[in-house]
Amino acid sequence: MHFDVPILLENTIKWYESNLSKDNRFDITVLKDNKIVAFGGYTSIDRVVGKAETYLFANPIQHHHGIGTEAKMLMCQYGFEVLGLNKLYFVANEDNFPIIRVNEKCGFVMEGRLRHEYLTTKGELKDMLYYGLLKEDWKKKSFNGNE
Ligand SMILES: CC(C)(COP(=O)(O)OP(=O)(O)OC[C@H]1O[C@@H](n2cnc3c(N)ncnc32)[C@H](O)[C@@H]1OP(=O)(O)O)[C@@H](O)C(=O)NCCC(=O)NCCS
Repeated sequence: MHFDVPILLENTIKWYESNLSKDNRFDITVLKDNKIVAFGGYTSIDRVVGKAETYLFANPIQHHHGIGTEAKMLMCQYGFEVLGLNKLYFVANEDNFPIIRVNEKCGFVMEGRLRHEYLTTKGELKDMLYYGLLKEDWKKKSFNGNE
């Protein structure tokens, strides 16, 4: 997911409205005890190949309580079983350890490293990592129990 900093409400509303008519994405909010704890989605949905990119944000005041992992596991189940996709993937900054860990716990594996793909605010060139999960691998993991 890409956005401009500072994140302003008016820009967020514009972003939301510009996405309403797109049929190659599906955005979700995740509720727990009737409160929003995370939001995310499936973007660049390719129905021919059966794949989509995923993104996920957990409520910052509740990080490190397992919400991200629980939300991502639900996203995998929904993506494969309801949206009928065959592959989910994401591309993360190499030092975004929480999202990498969350996805690894759901069974995603690194498929590639895109070298020097972005410039940090400190002027450092960094790599991005491409992670994927196939439905068949997710099914095996689900039947064997999650680690
Ligand atoms: C990624 C994100 C959704 C995780 O949410 P969360 O609720 O904190 O996730 P969880 O508590 O389920 O798991 C976080 C895992 O990351 C690990 N982690 C957190 N910081 C870490 C670090 N600096 N180094 C290594 N691991 C780290 C935690 O230990 C935990 O793993 P564990 O359960 O094996 O101990 C949340 O950090 C977030 O919203 N980040 C900002 C949005 C973002 O960058 N999204 C990705 C781009 S789409």
